[in-house]
Amino acid sequence: MADALLELRAVHGWYGPAHVLQGIDLHVMPGEIVALVGRNGAGKTTSICAAMGLLPRSAGSIRFDGVEMIGKPVHARFAAGLGYVPEERRIVAGLTVRENLRLGMLAVRAGAAAERRAIDEVAARFPRLAERFGQQAATMSGGEQQMLAIARALLSRPKMILLDEPSEGIMPALVDEMAQLFVDLRADGMTLLLVEQNVELALEISDRAYVLDQGMIVHEGTSADFLADPEIRERYCSV
Ligand SMILES: Nc1ncnc2c1ncn2[C@@H]1O[C@H](COP(=O)(O)OP(=O)(O)OP(=O)(O)O)[C@@H](O)[C@H]1O
Ligand SMILES: [Mg+2]
Repeated sequence: MADALLELRAVHGWYGPAHVLQGIDLHVMPGEIVALVGRNGAGKTTSICAAMGLLPRSAGSIRFDGVEMIGKPVHARFAAGLGYVPEERRIVAGLTVRENLRLGMLAVRAGAAAERRAIDEVAARFPRLAERFGQQAATMSGGEQQMLAIARALLSRPKMILLDEPSEGIMPALVDEMAQLFVDLRADGMTLLLVEQNVELALEISDRAYVLDQGMIVHEGTSADFLADPEIRERYCSV
């Protein structure tokens, strides 16, 4: 897998004594959308946390853009171009949409002109946010807050984004908008690892998929094959 952008090999992860990840192998090629699915408690969030360096203890190999990341702190992985949109979104509720977006740019230290350009780009890609630049983030719907979290992650100019259940708790119209956003981002060369409970959605927009069960990958293949095989979904993804 010489060309993979992200590659996990035999990754183990622990919370204290709990050995949650039991040797994960997965990779994401540049420009791919890869889905990671599985039941509640399967280890999806833990896998993403391992990739970001957020687990108290992990082992194995996590290569990103050709560099070994095991042992490197979160900020080093972020600086290398790994973007992350956590399940709980972590937008700053008391700040406006624009202020939240500016926070996303702190790390890239852009000048004022570059910052304005980047914010204009966001406005073009996220018209729903553009209409709400001055609005307090806390007063937006869950879906709008999720869009804001994604927009903010994009502003740090990542090479890849890890998304943990972006469609969770979001009204159907916005879920469709989000799916289209991911497809558009891929068309522009972005690479995504998408954790989803909404398996249908994840398979429809992804190129390949992995199924996690009890901290192990139990199935992998193209999303098209997976969509055509309801039995696998039944076995590993039904709650
Ligand atoms: N901070 C923690 N301390 C101890 N155990 C944890 C911790 N976080 C998660 N776990 C355990 O690790 C296992 C995997 O959890 P994880 O959150 O990765 O699952 P998930 O696939 O993301 O589930 P969900 O679909 O519910 O988000 C579960 O058994 C969970 O109880
Ligand atoms: Mg989770």
